[in-house]
This record gives sequence, structure tokens and C-alpha cells, in this order.
Amino acid sequence: MLSFRTAELSQQFTVELADKIRAIESQGNQVIKFNVGDINLKTPKSIREAAYRAMNEGETKYSHSRGLPALRKCIAEFYHPRYDSDIDPESQILVSVGAINSFFSTCAALLNNGDEVLCPDPAWATYRGIVAFCGGTPVAYPSPMDASDTKLDYDTLKSLINEKTKMIVLGTPGNPTGYELTPKEIDVAHEIAKDHDLWLVLDDIYANVRYTDSSPPMLQKLGSFSRKLILISGFSKCFAMTGWRLGYSIGPPEFINEALKASQHCITNVSTFSQYGAIDAMKSYPKVCQPIIGELKGRALILVAEMNRHDLPVDMPNAGLYIFPSIARFHTNPLDFANDLLNDYHTAVVPGCVYGKRGIERIRISFGNVTKKEIPAGVEMIAECLSRA
Ligand SMILES: Cc1ncc(COP(=O)(O)O)c(C=O)c1O
Repeated sequence: MLSFRTAELSQQFTVELADKIRAIESQGNQVIKFNVGDINLKTPKSIREAAYRAMNEGETKYSHSRGLPALRKCIAEFYHPRYDSDIDPESQILVSVGAINSFFSTCAALLNNGDEVLCPDPAWATYRGIVAFCGGTPVAYPSPMDASDTKLDYDTLKSLINEKTKMIVLGTPGNPTGYELTPKEIDVAHEIAKDHDLWLVLDDIYANVRYTDSSPPMLQKLGSFSRKLILISGFSKCFAMTGWRLGYSIGPPEFINEALKASQHCITNVSTFSQYGAIDAMKSYPKVCQPIIGELKGRALILVAEMNRHDLPVDMPNAGLYIFPSIARFHTNPLDFANDLLNDYHTAVVPGCVYGKRGIERIRISFGNVTKKEIPAGVEMIAECLSRA
């Protein structure tokens, strides 16, 4: 063992799975990739051009370690109507190499050994991984399982709080569930955090990838980011910019100062010309995102219809890139099932256990990285493989 920190971590399952798929593809096979949280659509042209222009104009040096002031100003203006709160771009925003990096700096800045962090289950496995890496102990609390689930279980959440608890993580809309917490649910969780003097970290990376006609939930009751409230988010999903690696956190100045130290020692600053692309993204929202969301919604509708046609009932997700159906009635272990599906049917899904104990009877199916044409064939493979079980 070289370091106890990495020894405790496992490789990201989805990254490992991608390696297995590459091996299958290198033998000349095609794989239907329902496994990836990526989006196989081009980043909108104006964003690409803005970055390209910046690069040609010499914006290829180190830049401000908090993020370009112009970008931070755009981020503050973007969030202002949602939170009805003045966010100071000078002191309350830290631009990062993706929301994953924001979560890392957050945990590095807040956690001491033995601090407990309430993490949703099911949820993105990285919350647990980074918390543990930073010396904390992730403690799972039950979060909604899918789009048709009813509510956040506040009572259990409250019952898990003790003197070691430091932070609550909320992810909305959820990965892998597609469930969008209501403003009231977020509010109540915020009240619980305040009552117990805990930090609340809200991850809203999928907040603008929504398939309902209503506008994104207003979170005005959360008020300002002046007290133990942190938002992490990024450009990856809504603008199809996963490879650009651009995210940000918003929080109280004292917190941002600490996270900044972690960030400076880790990344110095985010790629300078990429940040010019991000400025264009914010300025051209929502227009540039509409074709992306339209395409994703079209895929989600086909996927849900095909699943139901094969007697694999699922509801349309409110938002995000995923559905999270149960395969319990087939009495198969989803991990074995995912391996069989990949090896025998060249179709990749992620077993639900990756997202926490409560996911063990489910599989995550992403529609971010498949074409509309591939979806019926892929669902057919899933149904056929399940019927063998
Ligand atoms: C819930 C959630 N949060 C954060 C991220 C990280 O996004 P980024 O690409 O900005 O690092 C992901 C990526 O899949 C995610 O699913």
C-alpha cells in the first residue's frame, strides 16, 4: 500500500466500465452505451468559437485563481433570479475544473478526520469517495429512488445527525434517479441544516437539464450564501461541455477563501481560454441549450416508451440524463446482469449498487450517449438478457 488515502478508494466504477467497453470495441464490436453520464452532442458553436478566439488572441497563460472576473460576474448574474440573493463575484465564487473539483475543494476546506457527512443514497458515488478521501465518514440517508418517488425522508435524515455530523449533501436533480427535489424539500433540508448548525452542500449540476415545461424551481427561501450554504455546479451537462472541465462553487467568503487555498495548491487556475467559452455559454443561455435539451428529451421519451413496451415500467424523469428502474422481479444480481449484458449483448448499463446500498435492485440507464435509433435496440437487449435470468 502506498497511501492509506487512495487505498481506501476504489476506482470509479463507470470509468473502469468504459475501459472494458473500449476492449470490446477494439475487437470490432459495437456497444450500445447506456452507461455513460456524458453527452454525445457538440458543444454549441458560439461557445467553441469564443474559446478558440481567446486562444488565438493569446489567452493561453495562467489566469486568476478564483476564475476570470468576467466569468464570475456572469455566474453571479445567472444565479441571482433563482436565489433572489446578491452573490458577490469577488468573494463568493470559485471557478473549478468541474463540479467534481468543486466538491473536492469543498471537502478539503471543511472536513476534519472523523467528521460525518450525510450523503444521499442512491446518489453519485463520488460524494462518498471524496468525503472519505478527505478524512470524513460518509453516512447514507435515503433519498428519492426515481421520478415517481414521493419525497425526501426528513425524519431519517434528522435521526442520523449527531455531534460528529458536519455537512449534508443534497443533489438535485438526482443522479441516478432523475428526481428533482421540490423547493419545499430543499427548504426543509436547509432548515434542518441550520437548526443543527451544519453545512449544506447543494449540487445542482443537472438543474437546467429539465424536461417539464415549468421553469427551474426558485430557491428564494434559501436566501443568501452568507451562512453555511454552498452550491456546486458546472457547465458539463446543460451546455454539453463535459470535456471542457469547468465548474464552480458559490458560498460564504470565509469558505471560498479556504476552498481557494485547496484549489490553488491543486490546479492553480482553470484553463484560461476555456473560461472565455464559459462566458459565452452563460451569456447565450438558454438559447444555446434548447437544441441539446430538446434532443435529450426526445431520447428520454423513446427510452421510457420502449421500457414500458417491454413491460419494464418506468416514469419519465423530471430532469437529468438517467432512469433508474428496478429489476428486482427478475431475481438477478444487477452486477452480474450488467456484466452479462455487456459481454453477451454488447449493451452497457451501470448496476445500481454503484450508487449506494438502496440501489442494489436497480440499474442506471443513461440516454446521454446513445442515438435515438440505438435506444429501441438497446432496450430489446436489456429485455432479452433479463428474460434469460
Ligand atoms: C451528480 C453529479 N454531480 C457532479 C458531477 C460532476 O460534473 P463535472 O463534469 O462538472 O465535474 C456529476 C458527473 O457526472 C454528477 O453526476
